Amino acid sequence: MLEIKQLNYSFDALKPMMGSDTLFFHHEKHYVGYVNKANELLPPKWRHKSLQEIVSLARDKGEIALFNQAAQVWNHEFFFDGLSVNPEDHEISDDLLFYIRKDYNSIDNLKSELIKTALTRFGSGWVWLVLEGEHLKVQSTLNAETPCGLQGFKPLWTLDVWEHAYYLDYQNRRVDYATEIMNRAVNWRFVANNLSI
Ligand SMILES: [Fe+2]
Repeated sequence: MLEIKQLNYSFDALKPMMGSDTLFFHHEKHYVGYVNKANELLPPKWRHKSLQEIVSLARDKGEIALFNQAAQVWNHEFFFDGLSVNPEDHEISDDLLFYIRKDYNSIDNLKSELIKTALTRFGSGWVWLVLEGEHLKVQSTLNAETPCGLQGFKPLWTLDVWEHAYYLDYQNRRVDYATEIMNRAVNWRFVANNLSI
């Protein structure tokens, strides 16, 4: 059975980039809702499996309803863990900087690519920074789709671009939401840790 993972920070920790109402409803209603629905749909034989195993199994077996809920659980936990306003989490490790310079020339270029991808994602979905082989790549997925469990991809960071992630704070201005988060709330230590796993 999947368990609810609490945030590493308080609901008002990310103000003003993300207001406490946004974060409260996002975690307590949307994310918790995905956990509960995934558990309702979970076959007894998969109850001992990990979240990542459930996402992969549901994808492989074509269990679309379960996949959508479980993938959203994984995506949200990854998203929440990837945010921080702690200055220590904003330092970019040498290893990560090597990849950023190799594939995107500069951190500013990488941020611009992430923001542009957030803006051009039509509908609800996610923006991802992944390692594909030996290259950093920025990509986006629709609805619940996720690189979690996909062979050849190592997810490093994600931005939720469903409207529930930003509408209370930014209304329709998704680009402002993405820009604020990219410039002030990315947990680069989390990104570097994922790179080294
Ligand atoms: Fe969300």
